Amino acid sequence: MILHKFKTQADLDRAAADLIISVVRSKTNAVLGMATGGTPVGLYKEIVKTYQQGLISFKEARTFNLDEYVGLPVTHPESYRAFMQRNLFDHIDIKPENTHVPNGNAPDIDAECRRYDEMLYQQGPVDLQLLGIGHNGHIGFNEPDTELSRFTYKVTLKEDTREANKRFFNSLDEVPTHAVTMGMGTIMQAKMILLVVKGQEKAEILDRTLNGPITTQVPASLLQTHPRVIVMTDCDVQYKV
Ligand code: GLP
Repeated sequence: MILHKFKTQADLDRAAADLIISVVRSKTNAVLGMATGGTPVGLYKEIVKTYQQGLISFKEARTFNLDEYVGLPVTHPESYRAFMQRNLFDHIDIKPENTHVPNGNAPDIDAECRRYDEMLYQQGPVDLQLLGIGHNGHIGFNEPDTELSRFTYKVTLKEDTREANKRFFNSLDEVPTHAVTMGMGTIMQAKMILLVVKGQEKAEILDRTLNGPITTQVPASLLQTHPRVIVMTDCDVQYKV
């Protein structure tokens, strides 16, 4: 893993945006794995700025989001589809049909998971997968457990994850209990992974991700086995090699 530390979140956002832009520029039909949450909002703004300056086009790019809540209407502002439209897709020239987010309202969720994986395996591999991290070490919505899933699946969210995401809703009751997430195998297939970690309160989980044992109890620790992971953070952490 390569660790880049930044003094300010603004610098981090710009560097992360530049890396994503460089992948889109480097090939036609670039495939990007996208993430949601508070972390990527600033870097998506930087991407939009560059697009508005006429310096990048997403006409040929394709995107696959990591995850989506189950049972939340796509029109709900906190659905991950709505998040992506609001923060990125509505402001750039990407073709709507080239943006993919799992359908958390599919009548048959297992069939939806298989459909999503099939699309990913046909159109992938992902050139660059953007990741944030949960306080418990989850990536996408792959929660700590005794075993992890390789493929896209329906997950029961941990209570601490629902608590953490409560800030986006009116109350805990409104936070969905389940989500569809890309599995660890799919995430690890990406050619390059960009893990963005903001805020000193995530320093401990980032330290465990970088330096701790590889364990399903910290799903992000599996990234230690991926050949090309770039970590961008403003946390005070060391990579112990
Ligand atoms: C969310 C998402 C993750 C995200 C993480 C951290 O629930 N499923 O993709 O990385 O939790 O979110 P935040 O960036 O808001 O701290």
